[in-house]
Amino acid sequence: MSLTAQTDLDVIEAGSSQPLPFDLAKPSISVIGLGYVGAVSMACLAHLGFRMVGVDISRDRVRAIRAGRAPNVEERLGELLAEGAAAGRIEATQNAIAAVLQTDVTFLSVGTPTAKDGGCDFSYVRLASRSIGQALALKTAYHVVVLRCSVPPGTTLDIVVPEIELASGKKLGRDFGICFNPEFLREGMAVADFFAPPKTVVGASDARAAELVSQIYNAIDKNVVFTSINVAEMVKYVDNVWHAAKVAFGNEVGRLCKSLSIDSHDVMDIFIKDTKLNLSPYYLKPAFAFGGSCLPKEVRAVSHIAGARGVEIPLIDSLIPSNKAHIREALRLLDRHKGKRIGFLGVTFKPETDDLRESPTLDVMSALLANGESLAVFDPNLDFGPLQQAQIAYVRHAVPAHAAIMDALKGLTVRSADELMRNCEVVVVSHATDHFRKAVTDRPKNVEIIDLARLFKSLPQDSAYRGIAW
Ligand SMILES: NC(=O)c1ccc[n+]([C@@H]2O[C@H](COP(=O)([O-])OP(=O)(O)OC[C@H]3O[C@@H](n4cnc5c(N)ncnc54)[C@H](O)[C@@H]3O)[C@@H](O)[C@H]2O)c1
Repeated sequence: MSLTAQTDLDVIEAGSSQPLPFDLAKPSISVIGLGYVGAVSMACLAHLGFRMVGVDISRDRVRAIRAGRAPNVEERLGELLAEGAAAGRIEATQNAIAAVLQTDVTFLSVGTPTAKDGGCDFSYVRLASRSIGQALALKTAYHVVVLRCSVPPGTTLDIVVPEIELASGKKLGRDFGICFNPEFLREGMAVADFFAPPKTVVGASDARAAELVSQIYNAIDKNVVFTSINVAEMVKYVDNVWHAAKVAFGNEVGRLCKSLSIDSHDVMDIFIKDTKLNLSPYYLKPAFAFGGSCLPKEVRAVSHIAGARGVEIPLIDSLIPSNKAHIREALRLLDRHKGKRIGFLGVTFKPETDDLRESPTLDVMSALLANGESLAVFDPNLDFGPLQQAQIAYVRHAVPAHAAIMDALKGLTVRSADELMRNCEVVVVSHATDHFRKAVTDRPKNVEIIDLARLFKSLPQDSAYRGIAW
């Protein structure tokens, strides 16, 4: 089928009359949805020498793209589209079926707006997937579909694939492959971001599909991150939520600083210089709640300063409630172990310290103790010497909710991790140390583990192991 053929579906006039310079080493690519994302993909991939066929339901967008004009304001977009159109590498049509049939790969970049219920409106994704399926029904060669839309995890495999399979009668893996390849461009610098992406992530249904997509990105990113489709979908959402959290955080700091006659930019200029703790992976891996002598205290202090000045800082104010929700989740994991002897590996607020102040593990232990559960604990950093006793007395006084567990702590403490494992039916691990990792690996098999600290990179395939956030 040719894009220039007049079929029932071919509602747009003929494309470029120039012969297409096919580069057989490169797959040809159709792009369904020529909005901000799709138009940039068309322009940049054409610049890299790919033969591109764009599809949109908007006649005006199709006309703009095939004429080599930018359909929206974007630096260099018009220039690259004009270059691609002049070279005969860019075509555009309203006929998705024809476009898919003429290409090896289809990028799907239709809109995914917010639905009435606040979730994702899948209607454009469904319709476009059905068109792809209708085309695949007519195609014998293997085809790869690449979803570029930002969608909730599960969309690619639970919505896109079933729509394609139903409309085509074809099977994923055998007749077509699917990838989720999130788009990370920023409007206004989308072309520059395309050629120098912060990362390239591909979740693929199979190796053949992954290989084809990595070939497409070879010229701009040789370090494609391959992962599962669900992880790739989630990465995109997490990225944007993080960016929103950064903006909201910066703005809350700004309003608070202004109320104190402090220049927020002076503060944040210094803040961002710290790439060890502030702008770094540190503190970002899911594990247990924060605690210790500084974080909870200072979050409370900042909320207090803002409250006294009538400055709204809902993000910062939400940190303590968020931390409490995480502590409640640890208790929820222990719900089904009522009446068993529960051991704790690690009780100080983090590993490699003897500091018990505001340790979130003490919150968990206090709640269990109040419910009459039988507890035991081992922490190599507790010696119950005079200095430790002084701190216990301090914690007892400073945090009344921890008084009972402070009184009981010494009596609950056993001499080793092995002894704890031998004497408990359930063990909660609060610190990810080599010592505790070994104790969990070597434990009697009947001991159930609740991991609050992420002991292992690869999750144990073990029904007696549960993690708090993985
Ligand atoms: N805009 C961004 O900066 C950005 C960045 C990263 C990811 N994303 C995601 O990429 C996706 C596309 O975003 P966008 O901003 O380009 O959207 P957009 O609304 O600008 O463009 C979507 C295009 O799809 C077309 N379309 C809808 N249904 C179609 C169909 N069945 N067949 C053909 N065309 C169809 C629309 O006419 C429109 O031109 C969204 O999921 C978005 O969340 C956007």
